[in-house]
Amino acid sequence: MSRAIAISGKGGTGKTTIAALAINHLLLRGEKPILAVDADPNSNLNVLLGVELSSTIGSTRESFSEMIHRGEVPAGMPKQDLLEMQIEQVLVEGKDFDLLAMGRGEGPGCYCAINNMLRTFLDRISRDYKYVVIDNEAGMEHLSRRTTIGVDEMLIISDPSPRGIDTAQRIKKLAEEMKLEVRASHLVISRMEGEFSDDLKAAVSSAGMELAGIVPYDPEISRRDAAGEPLLGMSPEFPAQKAVGRILDDVLCEVSKKNVS
Ligand SMILES: Nc1ncnc2c1ncn2[C@@H]1O[C@H](COP(=O)(O)OP(=O)(O)OP(=O)(O)O)[C@@H](O)[C@H]1O
Ligand SMILES: [Mg+2]
Repeated sequence: MSRAIAISGKGGTGKTTIAALAINHLLLRGEKPILAVDADPNSNLNVLLGVELSSTIGSTRESFSEMIHRGEVPAGMPKQDLLEMQIEQVLVEGKDFDLLAMGRGEGPGCYCAINNMLRTFLDRISRDYKYVVIDNEAGMEHLSRRTTIGVDEMLIISDPSPRGIDTAQRIKKLAEEMKLEVRASHLVISRMEGEFSDDLKAAVSSAGMELAGIVPYDPEISRRDAAGEPLLGMSPEFPAQKAVGRILDDVLCEVSKKNVS
């Protein structure tokens, strides 16, 4: 059975970095195949995974919708089949993982029928993978639009500030209010430099969220970022990779509470 892990959080907290490190960790553990879903319209997960994007679900949805309006669907061909043929072109096939980029949201037309077809397709192909890792768009808008597919674990990434923890808590609450299919959500503090301060501990405890772990600031991430190098293949010796690996192992083992004090 496939397990879906979604990465959410406000802008710039380290979501894409953590998504890539999570995929790298699963691959190092021999867990494959993996489907990476880039659900951020400003896609860049592919860069951190070291693969090129050909197109996105969003642009395919647009061109498919135009085809229907122009009456260009070949006679006798079910629309679902035609859409799936086109979406399969969007799937980037890597060695042990595939990548699907969602691209931009909808234009002004009505996409309900196409979105239902898309969901059917995504639900079906997800089952072919051991893990699905979803790098979500920043903030909470996408949660309200219900574009998130059902997930088992949602990692909510926060910067190391009480305000960041507050935002993470709001994201968790919104997901609950929207009754999104999320089995469990876990707080992750990212890019931590220095001590886990008392202020931060107090913020975590008053947010009532379980802290799954802390990812330290890692100069190797900055170096690769500046050099445009992917994170795939990064050794678990590096502190950020090690931390994400530990968090993921804990979360996947359902040991979501860690003693960090
Ligand atoms: N642990 C870390 N150590 C050092 N730098 C980091 C770390 N995590 C993230 N960064 C850097 O922080 C910046 C933002 O990270 P990233 O792009 O992963 O955030 P994001 O939440 O996906 O952003 P966005 O909301 O724009 O999609 C990048 O330059 C990245 O290299
Ligand atoms: Mg990102």
